[in-house]
Amino acid sequence: MPVHSVIPAATDDIPEPVRPDTRAPVVRLSDAGLAFGDRTLWQGLDLEIQPGEFIAVLGPNGSGKTSMLKVLLGQNSLSGGTAEIAGKPARAGNPDIGYVPQQKTFEAGVQLRGVDLVGLGVDGHRWGLGLRGRKERKRKVAEAIAAVGAEKFAHSPVDVMSGGEQQRLRVAQALVGDPRVLLCDEPLLSLDLANQRLVSELIDKRRRSHGTAVLFVTHEINPILPLVDRVLYLVDGKFEIGTPDEVMTSEVLSRLYGTEVDVLRVRGRLVVVGTGDVMDALGTAGGHCHGDDEVRA
Ligand SMILES: Nc1ncnc2c1ncn2[C@@H]1O[C@H](COP(=O)(O)OP(=O)(O)OP(=O)(O)O)[C@@H](O)[C@H]1O
Ligand SMILES: [Mg+2]
Repeated sequence: MPVHSVIPAATDDIPEPVRPDTRAPVVRLSDAGLAFGDRTLWQGLDLEIQPGEFIAVLGPNGSGKTSMLKVLLGQNSLSGGTAEIAGKPARAGNPDIGYVPQQKTFEAGVQLRGVDLVGLGVDGHRWGLGLRGRKERKRKVAEAIAAVGAEKFAHSPVDVMSGGEQQRLRVAQALVGDPRVLLCDEPLLSLDLANQRLVSELIDKRRRSHGTAVLFVTHEINPILPLVDRVLYLVDGKFEIGTPDEVMTSEVLSRLYGTEVDVLRVRGRLVVVGTGDVMDALGTAGGHCHGDDEVRA
């Protein structure tokens, strides 16, 4: 299905810009499977993500969350099925995608300022290399920095910034090219509650204002629970897709983990408690709280 439609020009000599078709899915995985050697991470996955949709991707370590983002980024090849971004096969270097990789802190001595980092997200060919292009690029970078409220520290070296400041700039870098889909790999990791809120709210604002689809990998659903349209929960080759109310239930998670798991709702938050081996998968000794420390078991 074509996702770009050319609007007929109002006059003969001024063509209208090509606009994205806002109804077509931005991401489409059809009967998709991913295997490394004889290990199948997931298969038979059908997922269509609409513009502006916010999808949380959950699952234990090694369930294939990052690998799925890498399929969409054209860095991993599917072992079955197809992956499309805006109607075209997933490929490397796709300007339709903004990517916030799984967090690594910048090493001391990295000679890069915040503005330089954000500038790396600008597609160099988009505005050309002339004076006008350079000006436009500078304007875009400043706009992206302002959108994440990073004006005050954007000119500092990244290695002296706090984790929250670095993360805001990573989000700015991912958004500066105005992508149609934003892939975020655990963007809230090691952030305090205030920064978790700030980073998730600015991603939410963006998808509402620009219709950017969001695929958000996280181990903690509570900070984003009010924002999430659908959850993709991956466990050991099995998966479930649906609204948080449909997926985050004792019944569904017990089926996915293959053992008894309880999902409790405590003060509007979800607490997932397992027994036996699933405790390891959930990441804590007694259970896993998809939430803040206040209610951690
Ligand atoms: N290129 C590769 N070749 C072989 N195995 C790979 C490759 N990439 C990933 N894997 C394996 O696939 C599995 C899933 O990895 P992935 O990084 O997608 O997990 P994840 O769900 O993101 O986990 P985490 O929560 O720890 O980040 C892991 O066991 C990993 O070792
Ligand atoms: Mg990962």
